[in-house]
Amino acid sequence: MFVQAVVVYYSFEGNVRMLAEKIAQATGAELIELLDLDEPESKGFMKFVKGGARAMLGQKTRLGSLDAARLAKAELVFVGTPVWAFTCTPAVRTFLSEQKLSGKKLAFFCASGGSKGKTFTVMRNLAGPDNTVLGELELVEPLKREPGQCAERISLWAASMVEKAQAVKKEWQT
Ligand SMILES: Cc1cc2nc3c(=O)[nH]c(=O)nc-3n(C[C@H](O)[C@H](O)[C@H](O)COP(=O)(O)O)c2cc1C
Repeated sequence: MFVQAVVVYYSFEGNVRMLAEKIAQATGAELIELLDLDEPESKGFMKFVKGGARAMLGQKTRLGSLDAARLAKAELVFVGTPVWAFTCTPAVRTFLSEQKLSGKKLAFFCASGGSKGKTFTVMRNLAGPDNTVLGELELVEPLKREPGQCAERISLWAASMVEKAQAVKKEWQT
């Protein structure tokens, strides 16, 4: 049974983008990249000050336009974020709080330095109660540590999320 899937993600330094691309390759899902119009200008130390503070305060941001029609059609939405200050980024916070995701199946993934903290709990709360979170996966610095192994892990996980979504769809249709 075919499940229409998209991968919505924000990536500041490429780790989550790599994971998102692997999910798309493994499942045929389309990619939707979130653009944070107020993201830190610096990739140096100041990124921690500016990005970390915004995330810690639970701030939202201005997002570039995204393909709402493609999102509306999707039954399964993968949502990926880097971990900032033990939570999700302002871009993903804004996406989850402002887009209508009711009735959809969701699968969350993140790239971190090893401490995801409350990232997935926050994402679940932001997405609201009337959808189904099928699974969550954290990968630690995938571009630095064993990129091949990370690619395999994320691909297998993504395929398992599609299988779960198919099983739920079948249940609803019978
Ligand atoms: C502003 C900022 C805050 C961060 N805070 C955390 C954190 O609380 N816990 C953690 O494990 N990693 C933290 N990191 C590391 C990133 O989550 C990690 O490098 C991730 O792989 C980056 O993904 P990206 O390359 O897609 O941007 C932080 C990085 C930045 C830039």
